[in-house]
Amino acid sequence: MVEVSVTKKYGERTVLDVDKLRFERGKVYAVMGSNGSGKSTFAGILAGVLKGDGEIIYDGKKPETGYMPQKSFAFDMSLTANMLLGQPLRGRKAIRDKARRLLADFGLGEMSKKNAKKLSGGETQKLALARLMMEEHELLILDEPTAAMDVNAVEKAEKFLKDYFVRSRPAIVIVTHSPAQARRLADEVIFLDEGRVEEKGSVAEAFGNPRSDKLKKFLSVNG
Ligand SMILES: Nc1ncnc2c1ncn2[C@@H]1O[C@H](COP(=O)(O)OP(=O)(O)O)[C@@H](O)[C@H]1O
Ligand SMILES: [Mg+2]
Repeated sequence: MVEVSVTKKYGERTVLDVDKLRFERGKVYAVMGSNGSGKSTFAGILAGVLKGDGEIIYDGKKPETGYMPQKSFAFDMSLTANMLLGQPLRGRKAIRDKARRLLADFGLGEMSKKNAKKLSGGETQKLALARLMMEEHELLILDEPTAAMDVNAVEKAEKFLKDYFVRSRPAIVIVTHSPAQARRLADEVIFLDEGRVEEKGSVAEAFGNPRSDKLKKFLSVNG
């Protein structure tokens, strides 16, 4: 569906250099790597909010894309208003019902009138995920979407992501530090090191029999 060949430099330093990375609908891709390995840069470029050198090629038209940045944000208004931002004014009832349902799913129903700026980091991530799920996307890019959530919230968020995946069959690209989360959600792993693809393959291959010493080390430390 989409093939990415890009480099990104800050000053003289190349922080991303990937060639012909392909993403298909109906698959979940875990992007992993140490701090500073270029994961967020990659996610931002794929989402179109960062500019790199190179090309992103689509088979056919550009996919409907949803993006949750690593620093997920909320607007200075109620949770409900956040959910309804950008939604059409027509069909208001159905849309409001959907927003209410999603907030309830994520355990935010009780605070739907609260100002979203007052949410904790984990709650803000829940709201950002819930908001993404207001729409069907063909490509969903999630940059450490559950990093600030507690274990119960992570479990729920993963369940809703799985349900969403089954319904819409998007390509999901999820940046995560957790091999356990990658095992639970992903088909493929892309392990970045200093902006390059150090290892790529199915979760079973990459975790069961890693070729790269750096990935072996990463797995031994991160469980
Ligand atoms: N705006 C910027 N200016 C300069 N360097 C940056 C900028 N954004 C990111 N970097 C650097 O690029 C590298 C990759 O960053 P990032 O993609 O955020 O890594 P990751 O998400 O894997 O932790 C890091 O070394 C980071 O310091
Ligand atoms: Mg990052």
